[in-house]
Amino acid sequence: MTKGIFITATDTGVGKTVVAAAMVAALRARGVRACGVKPIESGCVPNPVIGSLVPADGTFLQKASGGKESLELITPLRFEAPLAPLAAAREVGEEVRVEKAMKAIDELESRYDVLVVEGIGGLMVPVAERYMVSDMARDIGYPLIVVASPFLGTINHTLLTVRRAQEEGLEVEGVVLCYHRQPEDTLAESTNPRMLEQFLNVPLLGTVPYIEDTSQETLRRAAEGALDIGLLFGL
Ligand SMILES: Nc1ncnc2c1ncn2[C@@H]1O[C@H](COP(=O)(O)OP(=O)(O)OP(=O)(O)O)[C@@H](O)[C@H]1O
Ligand SMILES: [Mg+2]
Repeated sequence: MTKGIFITATDTGVGKTVVAAAMVAALRARGVRACGVKPIESGCVPNPVIGSLVPADGTFLQKASGGKESLELITPLRFEAPLAPLAAAREVGEEVRVEKAMKAIDELESRYDVLVVEGIGGLMVPVAERYMVSDMARDIGYPLIVVASPFLGTINHTLLTVRRAQEEGLEVEGVVLCYHRQPEDTLAESTNPRMLEQFLNVPLLGTVPYIEDTSQETLRRAAEGALDIGLLFGL
């Protein structure tokens, strides 16, 4: 069984967390011990009561993973400023301790069958000095899934991301389109999949529909409807 997958995207806000959580929900429903991970998160909200920063993505993935795993392992590195990790850390005069994130992933790997790791923004986001999300993806060692928008502009962003990933020597499993906002019935939406299939050298794995609620069952159904979960994870 595949040990893990790294979820990146063409941009921030395209649907990485939703796609990652949906995959985890689908895997868990099939009886696979799966956990979502967001090793580094910026834009976290300070909670004065518990005296720590609360990561929205980490918390969402924690819930999709059954709610039992600690946020200390799911999101070990948190920053308040909604910036690239390197910039967010600089705001508070800190360094991004990538090795802490890697240790948490090692620990989670020993506890689960599959980890679904969400990246930060896209691949060319600075994480530390001379270290980007693409470097983190390489160090983690899982194949990539690129989440992309179904709307106008996605062809350029998607091809740039996939080709750059491949130039970096990263293995790209495929592309998932995600309706991060309501469908608009544009010509772009109806023609983008075919154009992408023609120009991508990896599969267009499917399209995650716009979902009105984020219950486990809705997430599970979204993943099962859009993706061949069995094939993707060698089940
Ligand atoms: N399939 C979907 N159906 C409904 N809403 C969605 C869907 N996908 C994404 N969204 C919404 O779009 C927004 C961005 O999605 P999401 O947080 O998953 O993106 P992201 O790539 O993880 O962003 P970030 O770079 O901040 O981590 C969220 O408000 C989310 O609820
Ligand atoms: Mg996210």
